[in-house]
Amino acid sequence: MADLLNNPWDVAEEDFPWNGSTSEKLQFLLHYAVLAPSGHNTQPWLFRIAGDTIELYVDRSRALEKIDPQGRELIMSCGTALYHLRVAIRHYGYEPVVQTFPDLDDPDLIAFVRLGRPRAATLEDHRRFMAIKRRRTHRMPFDPVPVPDAELQALQRVAQEEGATLHVIQDPDRKKRLAALIAEGDRIQGANKEFRRELARWIHPNLVRVRDGIPGYARGLGDLRSLTDPILVRTFDWGQEQAEQDRLLSENSPALLVLSTTADNAVEWLAAGQALDGLLLMAADYGLFVSFLNQPIEIPELRARLMDLIGGRDFPQIVMRMGYGEAPRETPRRPIGDMLSINRYL
Ligand SMILES: Cc1cc2nc3c(=O)[nH]c(=O)nc-3n(C[C@H](O)[C@H](O)[C@H](O)COP(=O)(O)O)c2cc1C
Repeated sequence: MADLLNNPWDVAEEDFPWNGSTSEKLQFLLHYAVLAPSGHNTQPWLFRIAGDTIELYVDRSRALEKIDPQGRELIMSCGTALYHLRVAIRHYGYEPVVQTFPDLDDPDLIAFVRLGRPRAATLEDHRRFMAIKRRRTHRMPFDPVPVPDAELQALQRVAQEEGATLHVIQDPDRKKRLAALIAEGDRIQGANKEFRRELARWIHPNLVRVRDGIPGYARGLGDLRSLTDPILVRTFDWGQEQAEQDRLLSENSPALLVLSTTADNAVEWLAAGQALDGLLLMAADYGLFVSFLNQPIEIPELRARLMDLIGGRDFPQIVMRMGYGEAPRETPRRPIGDMLSINRYL
């Protein structure tokens, strides 16, 4: 078998095992899948390589029960890993063959993925692949530079190709309304002890060597301040402070985005996750950064109001802001060996 890297970020394009077996190729490709974003960087996926097939499972032991009781963001996170995998497969010259939810008796089995017929990678495939290693979540303010319409339209097309709709919110009045919903979400979440406890479990001081969760530097914190952050997040109601910060960040971002689907079930969440990843990779290719502000979707009353704001028919699945800025450092990923499981949950 090909090497399993301890740090998936070290995967190198030229190390693809061209002369290896199919399962060696699949194993190599998984290094790219796990560079995908996930809620709180939980990396809630498991893989099994069975012959010529990757089986992708959701790892429910990594579910965020307080913030995401339905498992909506959990399945979306599996969708981002699936899309990363599809991009890598295309880059190496194969058509990805994907069967989603292949076993009606096992809702945790998200997809079968195989290498299909050989096909030459297009320039677009190559650009999306190169963006995998550049994409980061960017939580700082963006430069006051507008995003070109042509790029926003291209992002909308990629979302549509995956079965979702991307709403672009740029007009100041609607931005204000959305920013107010985000701020209201912060106040509700900050006041909720259980929510704070769950978040605090997934944020880590900069110098702690854990391979999942959100390091302090990704939240803009220096080494010293990051030491106390998990305790502060767990203990105090920071809702008001966060609300003000997020309101300003949102109103001052060049564009706010809402990704939506026509229904609200696991099939649509998986599609939304793939649409999200498609647009994140395309944005990274354009030199844009994205940050997530899902508070209004995570609180049912606010989600209903957000639904009205985007036209009243579609189900909002993710809220983002987008713009230009300096590239943040990458966040850690677990080694593939930790996720290659034959006996799930044993
Ligand atoms: C479905 C989903 C929901 C997310 N929600 C939030 C969020 O509400 N707030 C936030 O700051 N980041 C959110 N993120 C971003 C993750 O925290 C981030 O992807 C993870 O920490 C890994 O970091 P990276 O994206 O820089 O690789 C979300 C990501 C996904 C895929």
